[in-house]
Amino acid sequence: MDILRTKPIARIKADGAAEGGLRRDLGLKDLIGFGVGIVIGTGIFTLTGIQAKVNAGPGIALSFVVAGLVSLFAALCYAELAAAVPTAGSAYTYAYATIGEVFAWIIGWDLLLEFGLGAAVVSRSWSGYLADLFGLPPELFTEEAPVNIGAILIIVVLGVVATVGIRESARVTNGLVLVKVAISVFVVIVGAFFVTRSNLTPFIPDSVPAEQGGSAMDRPLIETFLGGAPSHFGVAGILTAAAVVFFAYTGFEAVANLGEESKNPARDMPRALIGTLLACTLLYVLVSIVLTGMVEYTDIDSSAPLSKAFEVVGASWAGDLVAIAAVAGLTSVILVELVTMGRIGYAMGRDGLIPPAVAKVSPKYGTPVRFTIGVVVVCALMGGFIPIEDLSEMVSIGALFAFLLVSLAVPILRRTKPDLARPFKVPFSPVIPILSGLACVYLMMNLAIATWLRFLIWFALGIAIYVVYGRLHSKVGEEADEAGAPS
Ligand code: ALA
Repeated sequence: MDILRTKPIARIKADGAAEGGLRRDLGLKDLIGFGVGIVIGTGIFTLTGIQAKVNAGPGIALSFVVAGLVSLFAALCYAELAAAVPTAGSAYTYAYATIGEVFAWIIGWDLLLEFGLGAAVVSRSWSGYLADLFGLPPELFTEEAPVNIGAILIIVVLGVVATVGIRESARVTNGLVLVKVAISVFVVIVGAFFVTRSNLTPFIPDSVPAEQGGSAMDRPLIETFLGGAPSHFGVAGILTAAAVVFFAYTGFEAVANLGEESKNPARDMPRALIGTLLACTLLYVLVSIVLTGMVEYTDIDSSAPLSKAFEVVGASWAGDLVAIAAVAGLTSVILVELVTMGRIGYAMGRDGLIPPAVAKVSPKYGTPVRFTIGVVVVCALMGGFIPIEDLSEMVSIGALFAFLLVSLAVPILRRTKPDLARPFKVPFSPVIPILSGLACVYLMMNLAIATWLRFLIWFALGIAIYVVYGRLHSKVGEEADEAGAPS
């Protein structure tokens, strides 16, 4: 069963050391800053508004609590693996070490989906806020646009920055992150003065039947299993919204990719992963309450919900400030997602699972130029043409699937490598990892049937590529053949 061959942990550590250049100079604060910087984006700036309007009402705050808990379980699992095997490859590498090559490939392929479409989602939300800020034509820059020019433009520009170099990217990102965090806190504090109690009542609006004529493909998969008429709002609406706003938490796992740059990964990785999530959950819940308290949920704007909310209550100056911060903050998310994809492509190329010519690092720029250009073209097309809701559901299903495999990896690694030093252990394993996996599956079931079908197509395409290419060119496989023994 060569597809289940694993990469030895010693080899993973050696690969990391061979790259050498990464300096161990990140402390706990840096790691949390990085995490919060990637995580806060479209989820809170745009999806909160859309989901409050169509599925949850003010109860969107509860959707964030549910999605936050699922993420927290997964974060505990990531923390155990990231502290034990601090590698730049994160989930892809953990899977390679534990459940086998084909699963590692699936995770890598899945992460490309998560980060690629993530960048596309954020580009559309960026475009919406830009239009709000400068009064640009909605038919070119918002969700009404048949072709979203703003989204395409920002992906191409940031694609160039990501290609030119990671160091430049990091410099651009750091400043933007501070602006974004400051403004989110600003929204909560200033927005609180404009909250009207009646907007928050009822907190969980009664369930209403979905309008006739909606496609069956747009219904959550779980409705098909449990039966019942399609509906919005009520408790089911909160859970559907939770599966979509789960998107807002995606990206925190990128903290685990900094394992080789952390001063004290054994101590700081678990704290950073969990700290990032707790900080974001708190902020998300507060922003949700403030947004739905400022504007009746039925009147929330879909393209620039937060800045428009301030305009509605007569504080246009604050709305402008929020729009500026959103444009700046979302830029950092897109950039990091594009750069992260380059890293994943590089890691998969290093292992021989994608052609080295595609993943090759350019000596001039120090980045995988060809791979990045390919990714940028695909992201720009997705961002230009596909509605934000469809894209974000794909990101959620991709991230949930990766979290599911990471949750499974924890108990498996405990059995197969009982002696591995584990500076942090998920409490009550295997109960928490199993609960984490089940929670991921449950949220996945709350996503639309169309999302599942698209995901399965992506998955099948990935398997086909692995069978005809990766399986035959895997470095681990080649070394095992040379050694004349199965790995
Ligand atoms: N979690 C990130 C966002 O909300 C991707 O934009």
